[in-house]
Amino acid sequence: MEHKHIPGLVDVIKVDQPAGILQIARDGTLDRAFGSGKPLLNRLLLRRILGVLSYKSRRFPTMSARKATGRETQQDALWQKLNAAAPDVRAGPADLEPLAMWVRGSNSDAAVGPLVQQVIGRLFSPTFEAGEATWAAAEVVAASIAPGNTLRNLAWRLTGKVTRAKGLLAPMVGGDLAGVHAVSVAIHNVVKGLNQMRGLYRDASVRQTLTPEMVSRRCLFAPGVVLRQATSSGTVGGCPYSAGTLLLLELERARQTSGDESMIFLADTWSRCPAEQWVPAMLEGVWRRATSAHGE
Ligand code: HEM
Repeated sequence: MEHKHIPGLVDVIKVDQPAGILQIARDGTLDRAFGSGKPLLNRLLLRRILGVLSYKSRRFPTMSARKATGRETQQDALWQKLNAAAPDVRAGPADLEPLAMWVRGSNSDAAVGPLVQQVIGRLFSPTFEAGEATWAAAEVVAASIAPGNTLRNLAWRLTGKVTRAKGLLAPMVGGDLAGVHAVSVAIHNVVKGLNQMRGLYRDASVRQTLTPEMVSRRCLFAPGVVLRQATSSGTVGGCPYSAGTLLLLELERARQTSGDESMIFLADTWSRCPAEQWVPAMLEGVWRRATSAHGE
């Protein structure tokens, strides 16, 4: 836990322990309402992130307050839909063949990003076609929320590059902001998982010992950071905060240092990822398909 607090300038707590993260994730006074952005650096950080993670003045679901109109219903509807699709994707259907080939290294010219984007995009629109431009758009969105590169981000904002990136992707997923989030932000965690899977596949002894379930678990990575803001004062892990304090939940660091897998999708909390069952099933499916081609 690290509290950066300089009155009038910054008030941010970074939390990287599962116990603190779960306490915050379950506390109704720590939300994603993102109201007053005081002090100055909090305001600048929030303005930048909300600017990227909104489209046409609507916030992405990952930046929406718990009680924002329709958020919970849409989260639940997507969860149901993805859970219903999980058994099929777990079996390794033909749609996963390009990814299975990539894992096997048999289409080494292909870039994995667009292959993953195609599979995720199709969850939102049956006509979604990923390519260089859609993948470049996903990289622009992700790079603009990563820390650092202030000047480049400013230039991208001024030239409208980030807005154009979202403008390309949004109509392709029927304007659904959960879809824009999936194909531009969440996708990078899935790509990380596929890179890990390719490494596991390369080692023949590992390949023969691991079950698809084991591989899937080894290929799951949590988001680097999710955000909350205090709506009243309190304490976390002995660290006091006041209304307006920003809390940065460092999920991947917490998972790595503790091995606590509940960090990956925050599945037991109100903000649980609607893809918490689908993503592991998809990873299993890719592995099944990649290995069955060799009769393994
Ligand atoms: C490895 C891949 C993924 C991981 C680790 C992941 C993890 C997470 C986590 C931790 C949250 C909670 C954010 C918060 O508490 O503020 C979240 C939210 C969300 N995720 Fe995922 N996610 C992944 C992939 C996906 C995919 C593929 C989709 C869509 C198909 C998706 C859709 C969403 C949505 C819509 C939310 C917002 C839920 C809400 O609060 O209303 N995620 N995800």
